[in-house]
Amino acid sequence: MSDREPAGRPPRLSRRGFLAASGAALLGAAVAGSAGNAAPGPEAVRLGDFWLFGRYDEGCTELGFDELDLAPVQLPHCVAPLSWTGWDPASWQDRWIYRRHFTASAGERHTARFDGVMTDAEVHLNGRLVATHHGGYLPFEVELPDVVAGDNVLAVVVDGRWALDIPPNLPRSPGPSVIDFYQPAGIYRTATIAAVPRIRLTDVFARPVDVLSPGRSLHLTCTLDAPVAGQVTASVRQAGRELAHGAAPVGGKSVEFDIGGLDAVRLWDVEDPALCDVVVTVRSGLRVLDQRVVRTGFRDARFTPEGFFLNGRRLKLFGLNRHQWYPFAGGALPDRVQRRDAEILRRELNCTMVRCSHYPQSTAFLDACDELGLLVWEEIPGWGHVGDDAWQRQNLADVAGMVVRDRNHPSIVVWGTRVNEANGTTAMYDRTGRLARRLDPSRPTSGALASTTGARYAGDDVEILAYNDYTARRGAPFQLRPPRPGLPYLVTETIGTLAGARAYRRTDTPGVRQQQAELHAKAHDLAAADDRYCGLLAWCAFDYPSGWQRSLGGLKYAGVSDIFRIPKPAAAFYASQVDPAARAVVEPGFAWDFTSQPSGPGPGSTIWSNCDRLLLFLDNRPAGEARTRRGDFPHLRYPPFTADLVVPKGRRPQLRIDGYVGEKLVVSRRFSGDRGSDVLSCIPDDPELRADGTDATRVVVAARDRFGTLRAGTTGVVTLELTGPGDLIGTPTLDFGATGGAAAVWLRPFAGPPSTMTLTAHHEKLGTATATIRATQNTTRS
Ligand code: GAL
Repeated sequence: MSDREPAGRPPRLSRRGFLAASGAALLGAAVAGSAGNAAPGPEAVRLGDFWLFGRYDEGCTELGFDELDLAPVQLPHCVAPLSWTGWDPASWQDRWIYRRHFTASAGERHTARFDGVMTDAEVHLNGRLVATHHGGYLPFEVELPDVVAGDNVLAVVVDGRWALDIPPNLPRSPGPSVIDFYQPAGIYRTATIAAVPRIRLTDVFARPVDVLSPGRSLHLTCTLDAPVAGQVTASVRQAGRELAHGAAPVGGKSVEFDIGGLDAVRLWDVEDPALCDVVVTVRSGLRVLDQRVVRTGFRDARFTPEGFFLNGRRLKLFGLNRHQWYPFAGGALPDRVQRRDAEILRRELNCTMVRCSHYPQSTAFLDACDELGLLVWEEIPGWGHVGDDAWQRQNLADVAGMVVRDRNHPSIVVWGTRVNEANGTTAMYDRTGRLARRLDPSRPTSGALASTTGARYAGDDVEILAYNDYTARRGAPFQLRPPRPGLPYLVTETIGTLAGARAYRRTDTPGVRQQQAELHAKAHDLAAADDRYCGLLAWCAFDYPSGWQRSLGGLKYAGVSDIFRIPKPAAAFYASQVDPAARAVVEPGFAWDFTSQPSGPGPGSTIWSNCDRLLLFLDNRPAGEARTRRGDFPHLRYPPFTADLVVPKGRRPQLRIDGYVGEKLVVSRRFSGDRGSDVLSCIPDDPELRADGTDATRVVVAARDRFGTLRAGTTGVVTLELTGPGDLIGTPTLDFGATGGAAAVWLRPFAGPPSTMTLTAHHEKLGTATATIRATQNTTRS
């Protein structure tokens, strides 16, 4: 045991502090930690560190199992080491064991909660099976009935085999390549353990009603896990102030009541995502039995045949689909990294909506969507095919798990209760749709229909006709199907790698990379042209691992950003669709590079910008004005520009683009044609992390021109060296020849005292760059 952490070092679990706390102190703690509907209370301890892990072995769930061959790991965790490409499903298709020792006080009630285990889990406590769970995308909570004083062992058997009859797996199909994404196994989201009250509030659904009228109210449904004779009170708070409160007697296991007096509430909107906390307390006499804080937001979201309306105002939904997979770690990156994807979508790509394709995603991602004003389509796991009866029963369990976990998120505006593009099982979809509407009468249900046959299969469950529109084929002018009259109509996918090139890689020619931006801009232009389109969610935000057809080396290069979340030229179109008062944008769609184009990018080069005018300069000498492409994109809010960028062979001048709004110069960018002055950069997303053994951040390592623009097509190998107490989630070398001159790794400090980590990246021609990250004292218990 000498080279591994001693078992049982984490904090002792006890509710004594919780029960002794006064109502006010308790409330403070709870509000500070406020989160989604089913999140653990403030008493939960995160089980991040001190796990022991290995392949499943005879007896591995037993109390006295010899742990010598198990490896110490942290959560979130993926069972197999992965690269950024070429994932091999055989590496995770097995059964695995995770063991965690903990100490606790006997006689108290304990639960463990797992936010996501891929794919099936069996939980054993002190050698006894206490629970099983099917499916990799939703949380489950486990009673731990026989916790003893002193050392306890939680043993979790994780089954990552494709042969499971669990969506999206299909045991009778040839293997994981029949669906278009890989799903590596592991306890890949957070796990917590808690000493909990004897009687608990297991669920609070806070449903805003009549949001647009001053008489708006909040309908509360509170569920307990045992009958109580007492009182439930609720306080609705916004920006630290109580807006209203209410109470109701409870004489059983659930109670519903309304809270009015909410005329002063600030509505939640994509531009101003004002949230509310609802603090719910159950008392028996004067005794507090349990308390829970859920977060909600008051907004009115309506899909109509005439378009989408948020709080009574027309909003053209502008968005992308998101897969949750990352290089090296699969899905196993912590909350901060999940949240970052929402930030990229909302703040960098200006999306107002994301589709969680094709499964419920992490609560951290959804919390960030709530906070940033990013609307969400969430759907049950599945892709393209439907399984047998048992499999379809799991669809129902997934609908229930998804809706109950997430119905307090104001960002979510539709439930996808169909399996993506799996048509024809209308009877089953009637049941999934009905179940979602029973659990949440406030949101419509739908399902993304396939491009070829989809429209014929719409049933009662389809309150929005959602269509994956891949009807435009390679070579043909890009077009969308017309909206279907009489039903709200949303384009849930388009483009991908079906309308244009087979892949959009940083290593592809400038022409191919530009084509992706043109197609995305055209699709959104067409959707903007007709009010009946509620909006368009294109395929897709980030490249993703897949063995399905058209993947190259195990990756689908359909993202407007790559799998490292580094923008490709297509991202420039999205970046430019923002009010210049918020952010003035000038992003060339071309590469200012003379390696493969000795006369420059040529006539008709596109510049994505939200400015009114763009003036060009070559080596600081005026070189004309870019022309608007309004004619090509009549309906985009900010159409791009075009410029003839031809230079005499042998010259590599500096390009400057000045952007004006009215008469005012709002942005000026320079681009170097001289690769000789390129540099290596090493830029972390966050300068500071928590030293809790879980927290992590991305570091982008890239070749850039001397003004900071990515230089695609740079080759050579970057070597990475990490000093300081932490892990490099990534490989010690990055092959720029394969990634196209940019890639990323993630850094995770060890749990412990404050420290500093330094990542040094070295490239033979570009030199050396470093990133320094401080890890501060862990303030959350882990
Ligand atoms: C769609 C599918 C997506 C993705 C895309 C590929 O049919 O819904 O998940 O596979 O095709 O371009």
